[in-house]
Amino acid sequence: MYSLLDKQKRIVSKRTTTANVDRHEAVYAGISDKLSSSEWQQVYDELDADSKDKLFAILDKRRIAVNETDYGQDGVEDYAKLQKELNYFYDGFKSTIIHQLSLCLKDKNPAKMRLLDVACGDGNYSRTLAEQFGFSKIYAFDISEHQIKKARALSSSAAFDDVTFRCVDASTFHKDESFESLKGSFDVAVIPWFFSYATDKTQLAQYVESIAYMLKPNALIIGATVSISDVDKLRTGVLLNDRKFCIEFPSAENVREDGGKWVHLVGSKKFRFVEYVYTHQTYSKLFNTFGCGNVRFLGGKEYVDGKHCDKKENQLLQRLVSAKENPLHIFVSDMN
Ligand SMILES: C[S@@+](CC[C@H](N)C(=O)[O-])C[C@H]1O[C@@H](n2cnc3c(N)ncnc32)[C@H](O)[C@@H]1O
Repeated sequence: MYSLLDKQKRIVSKRTTTANVDRHEAVYAGISDKLSSSEWQQVYDELDADSKDKLFAILDKRRIAVNETDYGQDGVEDYAKLQKELNYFYDGFKSTIIHQLSLCLKDKNPAKMRLLDVACGDGNYSRTLAEQFGFSKIYAFDISEHQIKKARALSSSAAFDDVTFRCVDASTFHKDESFESLKGSFDVAVIPWFFSYATDKTQLAQYVESIAYMLKPNALIIGATVSISDVDKLRTGVLLNDRKFCIEFPSAENVREDGGKWVHLVGSKKFRFVEYVYTHQTYSKLFNTFGCGNVRFLGGKEYVDGKHCDKKENQLLQRLVSAKENPLHIFVSDMN
């Protein structure tokens, strides 16, 4: 049986008759143009290291990328640098998430509530929320052992006694016996910048189901993701030419809701995200399906100034969140 990679090579070699066309380029161009994102990942996994290097060089030229976000030791440091470099964005979104939490928890007592921090990274949300709200207990999970190591190192003081960090795949809580005791025990989930890792809707559904498993029936969910209201809007990103943010949108061929890739190269070129973009409607359906309530994406006016941002940075944030086709969003779902 032919693999997908072999099939692509055969298709492209039939098409490519010009002698001066680099065979690799033709093959990989064919691959990136023709395959859905999950097929693409399958093909990519089959390549040897040398071919992967060539592929990256070609994709760099073509301004399409593959999912290479890697939170190994270097990735963790690069991401920390990136958060500083894009302070207006990361701090602005974090400040808005905290503001929304304050509104939603206005009449509640966080000292009696448990918080789940999904894909916690270096634990910066857990620390801030522990200090500001005094939750009774915080569990923070991330798939990267390097992130968890850093999170523990940064949270060693007595103030964070009630925060537990653990290296785990957040899409498998419901399948892992060791989480049975935590089932249905959380009042609040914060999920900043995680859902857009899902390479297709099946995986996105798994993320939502896994998180839902951990929550109380009346829990509050708040997070940030890359999402759009209308899939066609992805074609002409208004942020494309914003050099500060350096967002690049994919070629039209890659634009489809099920894993339409959206690439942004920020800061060091070494660190590159690929975000998988799903519409607001998809999130809505999945939240409803798994009993997570009605998810709402904040309007531009609901974003507050970043707590650690200067005036200019806050202006940038406002420009970003009020842009007509801004795909970066905070969502809230109150399951009450
Ligand atoms: C963009 S960072 C965001 C980190 C943190 N939430 C923040 O906002 O500072 C995304 C994080 O998701 C983690 N991640 C990716 N896939 C994951 C999975 N399946 N389960 C748990 N964590 C995951 C990565 O290791 C990384 O630390």
